[in-house]
Amino acid sequence: MPQTSGNPAEELDSLTIFLHFGLMVFGVLTWISSFWAGDYKSPHHWGFTVHKMLGLGTTLFLAGRLFHGFFGPQAARFKNWVPCRSDQLKAVFEDLRGLLTLKLPDRPPHQGLAGLWEAFGLLLFTWMSATGFFMYVFLTPGSRARGVLHLVKELHELGEFLIPLFLGVHLGAVLLHALAGDHRWRKMFFLKNPSN
Ligand code: HEM
Ligand code: HEM
Repeated sequence: MPQTSGNPAEELDSLTIFLHFGLMVFGVLTWISSFWAGDYKSPHHWGFTVHKMLGLGTTLFLAGRLFHGFFGPQAARFKNWVPCRSDQLKAVFEDLRGLLTLKLPDRPPHQGLAGLWEAFGLLLFTWMSATGFFMYVFLTPGSRARGVLHLVKELHELGEFLIPLFLGVHLGAVLLHALAGDHRWRKMFFLKNPSN
């Protein structure tokens, strides 16, 4: 059973869940389509076109989540959950120590190691959206990327390794919690969580 603090400021609000759903659908499809995006150099570039449109969808949901993180309700605000304070960092280390002894973190959403990893995910998707949006504006399909555009494209390609790393750990944690009887994934699909 997950620990519940009883503090409503730690419950995920419905806009956070809706924005997460958008990130989940568009983020994963954008990543999958990226394997065909390298055809931007050729006169026929359907892979690039599909990736560009899906990437724009991801960018919109991400911008919504960032706005919500600065101006939304207390539980969604980054200052309340991105681990920076010493007590929050202590919780991250406690979770890491627990994992070494095969004990799963058992905290409300956003707390401890989960909060750190979720913050890393948002940072990574911000990076991918910013560099992707730069290409959306300045890359002319059918020609090669040169100069600054080439550099931005190389920086964008860091996602080739970092996105599977983020998703692997994020989904691995969700799966391990589900196997341990904590079905918090259900609320991210607008379903009732029987563990609460
Ligand atoms: C198949 C894909 C995904 C699944 C099944 C999934 C599942 C989940 C679940 C179950 C939680 C709640 C964790 C908790 O209660 O502590 C969560 C939270 C979160 N996930 Fe995902 N996730 C997915 C993809 C993504 C993607 C692509 C991102 C991109 C950044 C992301 C970022 C986050 C963030 C930031 C949170 C914290 C809630 C918030 O503040 O928005 N997730 N996810
Ligand atoms: C906003 C519009 C976007 C545009 C115009 C764009 C454009 C591109 C282009 C041209 C490439 C091919 C680079 C090459 O192979 O030489 C690429 C690769 C890639 N894109 Fe995007 N992108 C966008 C958004 C995103 C977003 C939001 C993500 C996050 C999921 C993403 C993830 C990736 C990944 C992981 C690669 C590397 C694929 C690989 O090298 O195998 N892109 N993108």
